[in-house]
Amino acid sequence: MEQSFIMIKPDGVQRGLIGEIISRFEKKGFYLKGLKMVTVEKSFAEKHYEDLSAKPFFAGLVDYIVSGPVVAMVWEGKGVVLTGRKIIGATNPAESAPGTIRGDYAIVVGRNVIHGSDSVESARKEIALWFPEGISAWQSNAHSWIY
Ligand code: PPS
Repeated sequence: MEQSFIMIKPDGVQRGLIGEIISRFEKKGFYLKGLKMVTVEKSFAEKHYEDLSAKPFFAGLVDYIVSGPVVAMVWEGKGVVLTGRKIIGATNPAESAPGTIRGDYAIVVGRNVIHGSDSVESARKEIALWFPEGISAWQSNAHSWIY
């Protein structure tokens, strides 16, 4: 079953949006398979965003991510990468539809509350980076009602 790496960024944590965000993924029918609150080092954030290292906003993005605790999660379910991105909304909250997380809770791209993997391959890499200890394997009793 497909998995995605979803991170509630420091602004989402500070603003008390953890429960709301988890609720949206849970109610959709996705399964929470990994969860931890961590404050990461600069070098770790640079590794997570290494593909963006040439972008002018890279330093600011890294400073933002290390500015406080984040909630790192692994969510599982059919099509969770693409559907997760739809639940999250467009990168720039000004373009995120109402009803999406960024559309409802964010205003500017530099404080857009949440990260979600953009492909199955990125998800695999990000889960390996953030959860080197691995995640628990379990199957919900609700499975046969969702699929
Ligand atoms: S790009 O330029 O198309 O590669 O960037 P994009 O795919 O839209 O976004 C990649 C991540 O960079 C974040 N981002 C920014 N952060 C701070 N300031 C600015 N201006 C900015 N533009 C993009 C964006 O939120 C993406 O981060 P994640 O964590 O993946 O959502």
